Amino acid sequence: VLSVGAVVPAAGTGERLGAGMPKALMPLGGVPLLVHALRALATCSRLEHVVIAVPPGTQSQVRALLTDVDGPIPLLVDGGATRADSVARCLELLPADVDVVLVHDAARPLVSRALVDRVVDAVAAGAEAVVPAVPVPDTIRQVDAAGLVIGTPSRDSLRAVQTPQGFAATVVRQAYRQYLSSPVPADGPTDDAGLVERLGVKIHVVDGERTAFKVTTPMDLLLAEAVLSRSRSRSRGTELPADSG
Ligand code: CTP
Ligand code: MG
Repeated sequence: VLSVGAVVPAAGTGERLGAGMPKALMPLGGVPLLVHALRALATCSRLEHVVIAVPPGTQSQVRALLTDVDGPIPLLVDGGATRADSVARCLELLPADVDVVLVHDAARPLVSRALVDRVVDAVAAGAEAVVPAVPVPDTIRQVDAAGLVIGTPSRDSLRAVQTPQGFAATVVRQAYRQYLSSPVPADGPTDDAGLVERLGVKIHVVDGERTAFKVTTPMDLLLAEAVLSRSRSRSRGTELPADSG
């Protein structure tokens, strides 16, 4: 049976949220975003190891928040300057016997067990790299520096990519070794699959969930509160409008 390890980048400052505290520690329904994210990962019964990159100087504060999270006891490491640096540090601490690595943003609190399972199952079935993704509702146009439209990719081929992303451990470790030896340009990949893609490895897509969005702006936090209270009233059996996805 495969051993699953999770890496959780949680070390960002949350500039765009602008809350004056690290985003991962911001409460959602009274519980820090990081704790929501860890609970989602812990729904995976094969999860054996968790490493979290935390804002430097917050290890004891974060440790105290983890007492009511089930699953393996996480290792904590100070995050780096970028998300990729933070993930690289986590991978160093992840035990060598892990077969499947999940990388999951602390800033995505509302991820279902079904989504985690789809990603793990796809890697277990042989995919070396798996990303959850959803169709893009907006029309996306490329514009140049002068604000003129220079292209309109067909919406049918566009997907918004989420986390957890899942990888064969050897593949994600190799991608991050390459990242550390030849960092990406400023307009380079912003996620883990992007680094794996540089190795020439095929990235498989499974269905994501609209609710697995990343909390980035104040409006996202409002939306997350609404989604959470809807699902809490549902689990209490209260009648609410049908799922809008
Ligand atoms: N992250 C990290 N280390 C960094 C930067 C980001 O571990 N140096 C993590 C964040 O904590 C978050 C995830 O990567 O869980 C996605 O990043 P993002 O949403 O950009 O979070 P922040 O960088 O904190 O937000 P902002 O860019 O608005 O400052
Ligand atoms: Mg950021």
